[in-house]
Amino acid sequence: MRLQNKVAVVTGAGQGMGRAIARLFQAEGATVVGFDVHLAAVQETVGAKGLALDVNIADSAAVNAAFDAIVEKFGRVDVLVNNAGIGSVDKFAEIPDETWARVIGVDLTGAFYCARAAVRVMQAKGIKGAIVNTSSVSAVSGDGPAHYCAAKAGLMGLTRCMAKELAPQGIRVNTLVPGPTNTPMMQGIPEEWAKAIIAGVPMGRMAEPEDIARGTLFLASDDAGFVTGQNLAVNGGSAFI
Ligand SMILES: NC(=O)c1ccc[n+]([C@@H]2O[C@H](COP(=O)([O-])OP(=O)(O)OC[C@H]3O[C@@H](n4cnc5c(N)ncnc54)[C@H](O)[C@@H]3O)[C@@H](O)[C@H]2O)c1
Repeated sequence: MRLQNKVAVVTGAGQGMGRAIARLFQAEGATVVGFDVHLAAVQETVGAKGLALDVNIADSAAVNAAFDAIVEKFGRVDVLVNNAGIGSVDKFAEIPDETWARVIGVDLTGAFYCARAAVRVMQAKGIKGAIVNTSSVSAVSGDGPAHYCAAKAGLMGLTRCMAKELAPQGIRVNTLVPGPTNTPMMQGIPEEWAKAIIAGVPMGRMAEPEDIARGTLFLASDDAGFVTGQNLAVNGGSAFI
């Protein structure tokens, strides 16, 4: 029960990694608040013992209102997992302004909005909290569309700045770096791509969402009590971050 008596917010908890993280955190004793743009899906994830909120993380006012509601209901926020993210397939020179703004708006700015709101609660209540930002191998490999790579690299910089500034208050901030993972985001890709991806993983398979959830749990829990500003790659050896 590594998260007993903790209130944990997990963004993008409606499916994929976010669902696995939310469920593992509940099994470890946390009260989980799931954010997603698909309310029914996140309700299914957290069930009656959690709280599901229909929050678009790219909407600053909606994020702030959600954190106000959490404080009203539970009085605290101990853990934030910035897991929600979107991708898009575009050639660099053909990226429309709106697509650039949408991907950066969710994957980087949305994570900032949630982190800022969570830190405000932690600071106001003197909570030594933990924040995990979910990046991607694309941040360092450059494999992937430019907006996605830029946003995911931005998260690593955000993590390190927050980690240094907030360490004296006991707030830890780390980056979880998944390799290719068997979630709905990946399940849409052509079979040949999937085969090529798996061929590049020394351990011979994609990650399962539960692999990512266990790494995230480590960073969120007191097991990682002296770990901050770090990248933890969970990728079967496919890249060294
Ligand atoms: N699947 C992979 O191979 C892989 C690899 C590296 C990194 N990642 C990253 O891991 C994270 C989780 O990926 P996944 O594969 O589980 O994705 P997914 O697409 O299966 O699930 C993402 C969830 O986030 C929600 N979401 C999307 N936009 C949102 C918004 N604006 N506000 C709130 N919720 C929103 C979606 O509704 C969905 O439930 C993402 O940040 C992704 O970029 C995924």
